Amino acid sequence: MKIDGIPYRTIRVADDDWSVEVIDQTRLPHEFALIRLETADDCARAIKDMNVRGAPLIGATAAYGICLALRADPSDAALEAACVLLGATRPTAVNLKYAIDEMRAAVAPLGANARAAAAYARAAQLCDDDVEICRRIGENGLRLIRGIAEAKPGQTVNILTHCNAGWLACVDWGTALAPIYMAHDAGIPVHVWVDETRPRNQGAALTAFELGGHGVPHTIIPDNAGGHLMQHGQVDLCITGTDRTTATGDVANKIGTYLKALAADANDVPFYVALPHTTIDWSLEDGVAGIPIEERDAREVTHMTGRTAAGEIVTVEIAAPGSPAANYGFDVTPARYITGLVTERGVCAASREGLLGLYPERRDG
Ligand code: MRU
Repeated sequence: MKIDGIPYRTIRVADDDWSVEVIDQTRLPHEFALIRLETADDCARAIKDMNVRGAPLIGATAAYGICLALRADPSDAALEAACVLLGATRPTAVNLKYAIDEMRAAVAPLGANARAAAAYARAAQLCDDDVEICRRIGENGLRLIRGIAEAKPGQTVNILTHCNAGWLACVDWGTALAPIYMAHDAGIPVHVWVDETRPRNQGAALTAFELGGHGVPHTIIPDNAGGHLMQHGQVDLCITGTDRTTATGDVANKIGTYLKALAADANDVPFYVALPHTTIDWSLEDGVAGIPIEERDAREVTHMTGRTAAGEIVTVEIAAPGSPAANYGFDVTPARYITGLVTERGVCAASREGLLGLYPERRDG
């Protein structure tokens, strides 16, 4: 996608041909800055501190972390150490494990001298694949939006989204936002309700930044406004991303997604989840019992960072001093509340049969 007319991906190999450049998402929307990652430790830190975030981008950053580790030391021990280090950065998004497994499979059989080059080639391929997958998710989701637009000719299609599942969360395009960009570009009048997504405000900071940059009409709302809007016919569909989807269609996504799905169910608003195959955890049946939920620093709840009128970025305390706070990063929406899963292969029911219909090669696996 473009920023000030310049096309960007969220991650790329720098002009020196070996270090890795990412957009520092902790500084958005107030500052657009790139950071350079030179070691696997840099990549692990960037994922943990959420300079990069979003399930597909976490995977892509880990892939390049393995490249950087092998460039410094192509031994088996270094490869395993990098896989362990990067694999431990964030627990919920399964794209991380997918990317690490793919990288290990690509380089482990090779001799030491060939490993670094093969790793860079595989990481680049994973990133290109992610872009193409997201583009196809966009096309498949566009058909849903077009259908809704045709049922209310001349009127705006109102879409609610939670967190950031746009191009910043991926390598390009995004998952949940890809269909929205394509609908907007196709001339369908869309308007997006952007959940602010406390405590880190990925909606207010990142989704709004993205949509604004692309000219898509949108409105930021507090996280607790969605039910009211749905009750009053102001939401035609919800579409979110996911960090891990089970083989039965349960969906883990940013904390608060489950409440939106409950409100959508109560108000007959379709609730779709967009995902690449790299987000499916075929080993899990029950998302509520099986998906590890990240717990982050309580300070993210008790404090907020923003820009003052003078342009200074400051962090302030917003909670009663000394009160404990809990910070669960994700929740699980059971499949029964999900109208459909939008994948690169098409839209399916959130169920084992639905997913196997699109991914028949998994039937015996
Ligand atoms: O904690 P984050 O910002 O990494 O969480 C991101 C999300 O929950 C996204 O909705 C998710 O990764 C969707 S994948 C594009």
